[in-house]
Amino acid sequence: MTVTDIRKGLVGVIADETAVSKVNPETNSLLYRGYPVQELAATQPFEAVAYLLWNGELPTPEQLAALRATERAHRALTDEVRAAIDLVPLDAHPMDEVRTAVSVIGAQDLAGSGSVMDASGSAEENLARSIRLFAVLPAIVAYGQRRRRGEGLIAPRDDLDYAANFLWMTFGEVPDEVVVDAFNRSMILYAEHSFNASTFTSRVIASTLSDLYSAVTGAIGALKGPLHGGANEAVLHVFHEIGDAENVSSWLDDALARKRKIMGFGHRVYKRGDSRVPTMKAALDTLVAHYDRPDVAALYDALEAEFVSRKGIYPNLDYPSGPAYDLLGFDTVTFTPLFVASRVTGWTAHIMEQQAANALIRPLSAYSGPDERHVEGYVPDTAAIDVSERPEEAAG
Ligand SMILES: CC(C)(COP(=O)(O)OP(=O)(O)OC[C@H]1O[C@@H](n2cnc3c(N)ncnc32)[C@H](O)[C@@H]1OP(=O)(O)O)[C@@H](O)C(=O)NCCC(=O)NCCS
Repeated sequence: MTVTDIRKGLVGVIADETAVSKVNPETNSLLYRGYPVQELAATQPFEAVAYLLWNGELPTPEQLAALRATERAHRALTDEVRAAIDLVPLDAHPMDEVRTAVSVIGAQDLAGSGSVMDASGSAEENLARSIRLFAVLPAIVAYGQRRRRGEGLIAPRDDLDYAANFLWMTFGEVPDEVVVDAFNRSMILYAEHSFNASTFTSRVIASTLSDLYSAVTGAIGALKGPLHGGANEAVLHVFHEIGDAENVSSWLDDALARKRKIMGFGHRVYKRGDSRVPTMKAALDTLVAHYDRPDVAALYDALEAEFVSRKGIYPNLDYPSGPAYDLLGFDTVTFTPLFVASRVTGWTAHIMEQQAANALIRPLSAYSGPDERHVEGYVPDTAAIDVSERPEEAAG
């Protein structure tokens, strides 16, 4: 292998096929199981999109009702998982809390399952596990924010759908329909995006025939990074640094002079704009109007216009979702856990797809270390057999 064969960052490498979603940077489109994500965001509750990602089709009213019934039955945190979350220091990042909670849920669910040979589970078991994780993640995220604020756990409400209940468990009130709708749209937009870093991580873990919880736990670790999921949180830090729209130009002069990456801009796949941004920007606009915060829109527009004109690099989904989650009342550190609550649907769809047609994911590397050398003073054991004389064993 030559160094020119290396695709650092796996740029441009097609690692496998998937039927879960299609990202087309040429047409700036994103399809979930064939449906444009914008259409799904405009018409569907998040639960129906989760069903679509897992099953390949949108649910009938009966199928949606059945999924909602199961989701409602698994919303509450158990005392054990709550106790595990409480072990995580309050000043740790909440992604550590979410990762820990999912890991504990997995260990409890798989307790007594015996050998690792049984870990991967059947398709039916993994769908049931996916629904349970999807159902409980809002409680994990909401409780995390509340305990950092010194507030108590709020029990889920059976009369509310997923998005409204999520906001209820976080804030103890159900906001207006326009606010619930904006939040629902954000959940749909974040749900799936082909072989991004966290999804690929989940597929790598699934490909070893490890269990779904381990794959999701690993994906959460990948999502935490600021080049991936952590960017929505980083966008808010940028907004706070800039402070006001009139400071954008001077702030950007300084940031670019220091070769800083401007969070919320750029994308590995989309080079001419992220297909999800217009829908999320429209949701942000409804929140700006609802909460009467034109200053947020002014800063958003000013930074976008200035950065795009200077660098030709466009916003990604994290750019509008960061300020939207801020307006909704989520703490900045909670933004990436919100991404987990959504993306768990895509991850689990990919884990099931991987295991249905599995090949261990194990790329090669080009060695760039020292040439072969030997430990000083080492005397070879003359009784040892020279493997070069036994080619059939050396090959194994
Ligand atoms: C997402 C990201 C990692 C994609 O990276 P990539 O495909 O590897 O693109 P590159 O890093 O090769 O970028 C190409 C050029 O654009 C620049 N660039 C890309 N995104 C940039 C950003 N957000 N701010 C400043 N410059 C950026 C790079 O510095 C590079 O410049 P160079 O050719 O002079 O070195 C990158 O755009 C980024 O770090 N964005 C900020 C984090 C973010 O918002 N992540 C969420 C992604 S959904």
